Amino acid sequence: MSIQILPSLLAADFGRLSEEIARVAGSGADALHLDIMDAHFVPNLSFGPDVVALSRRVAPGLFRHVHLMMSRPDLYIGRFVEYGAQTVQIHVEADCDIWAALREIRALGVRSGLVLRPQTPVEAIKPYLGLCDEVLFMTVNPGYGGQSFMPEVMPKIAALRRCAGSALDIMVDGGVNFETAVVAAEAGANQFVAGSFLFRQQDMGEAINKLRGVLSAWNFNGNIV
Ligand code: DX5
Ligand code: ZN
Repeated sequence: MSIQILPSLLAADFGRLSEEIARVAGSGADALHLDIMDAHFVPNLSFGPDVVALSRRVAPGLFRHVHLMMSRPDLYIGRFVEYGAQTVQIHVEADCDIWAALREIRALGVRSGLVLRPQTPVEAIKPYLGLCDEVLFMTVNPGYGGQSFMPEVMPKIAALRRCAGSALDIMVDGGVNFETAVVAAEAGANQFVAGSFLFRQQDMGEAINKLRGVLSAWNFNGNIV
């Protein structure tokens, strides 16, 4: 189980999108997190498959991780994969057949992920774990960057880590910074999405190195190695 750090493009300067994608590629990040919002599942609109394709064009070697905050993600899975998504995450609260959607993601040869809102019980995802490469726990209400981390989500992460063991990747998204990443790592998370915290850094690479240093002290059982 490796530590991964994923800058969220939602916090980028949209007037300089190509440069911002190149900045992430040069920072040593493990992947680029792309937030897709449909103004229905969440009260905001972001961008679509073209920005995933732009990321592929600007930084072909930077892994593209796509988080679909959509009521009907099932209708768009094929298009996002065609445009370059390498992981596709859907929400367990989406209005579609979750089994079929996860099967389709895998059948297209990319990694599958399931996401929970902060209020959704962890039991909701358990039936689908066999079809998931990773589980994302939202640590803010999805829809906007720059919100505060919700520590009340941590017991759910700890519960899933206890039952899933080290085989599953567990990710947090929302309000992640040096302090809150450690809180999430203590609970059992090993993948960290960070938007505003990383994009506001003068030197994103230095911040990612520091974050990796802080997190590598944890063995994800709640003990300092
Ligand atoms: C929120 C998105 C996040 C967001 C995180 O709905 O899923 O990926 O970009 O932004 P920060 O890190 O600023 O909370
Ligand atoms: Zn996200």
